[in-house]
Amino acid sequence: MTHARQQRHIQVVAHRGASEAAPEHTLAAYRKAIEDGADALECDVRLTADGHLVCVHDRRVNRTSNGRGAVSALELADLAALDFGSVRTRAAWRGRDEEPDWEVRPEDPEDTSVLTLERLLELVSDAGRRVELAIETKHPTRWAGQVEERLLALLKRFGLDAPESPEESPVRVMSFSARSLHRVRAASPALPTVYLMQFVSPRLRDGRLPAGVRIAGPSMRIVRGHPAYVERLKNAGHQVHVWTVNDPEDVDLCARLGVDAIITNRPLAVLRQLGR
Ligand code: G3P
Ligand code: CA
Repeated sequence: MTHARQQRHIQVVAHRGASEAAPEHTLAAYRKAIEDGADALECDVRLTADGHLVCVHDRRVNRTSNGRGAVSALELADLAALDFGSVRTRAAWRGRDEEPDWEVRPEDPEDTSVLTLERLLELVSDAGRRVELAIETKHPTRWAGQVEERLLALLKRFGLDAPESPEESPVRVMSFSARSLHRVRAASPALPTVYLMQFVSPRLRDGRLPAGVRIAGPSMRIVRGHPAYVERLKNAGHQVHVWTVNDPEDVDLCARLGVDAIITNRPLAVLRQLGR
């Protein structure tokens, strides 16, 4: 394994929790990430049919649970009856028989039941140290603002919706949708927002981001293919948070380029590689 001794602090963010060690988006995965020393936790949020924000990546629950159906068509009680500890690998999802071999084997049913954002916020509040949360809004256009509205209402209950400054905020909101981020900033101007990118649109190639966004979230594929783009973003005054960085060589490249955050399924391995 390569050893990238960092010159400066790079935040290590657990993608869907420590999702290589435990089923993604479960309490088990987030507890493991906190134990591992992750600086922050990443989660995707979707609205249930009865208006609860739950941490589920896919539109449907088919891959990550023993149930079927779209999150938006199911109520929280329906989701609570499912087991999210039976998440299948991509190969199994495509019909090949491959079972994941989790390092963490949860025994408490709560550890693998559907995770509400509220429960995750409680976990972070009780962590005993600062653990940041990077919350990604999924399919915000479908719900025309309801995801952001519910999100901000929930953050308000935890006293997290109106930080004194973006730098102080332990929570940030990420999205591939500039419109979703705009809605968040309009309601809560000091909450930091991260514009996620799977590709760089021509109008943003010079390092600009949608108005008001301070943090860029390029994929590792973008960074590998166009390392100079990171410099451009930094020169434009933006932070750079890269996803999903699991390969040691990619961690090294991110460290050399001076990114601000590495979003990874393997927080412990990345922390070790960074000498922490
Ligand atoms: O952290 C950003 C990353 O999670 C975006 O991709 O598909 O894993 O939500 P995805
Ligand atoms: Ca995500």
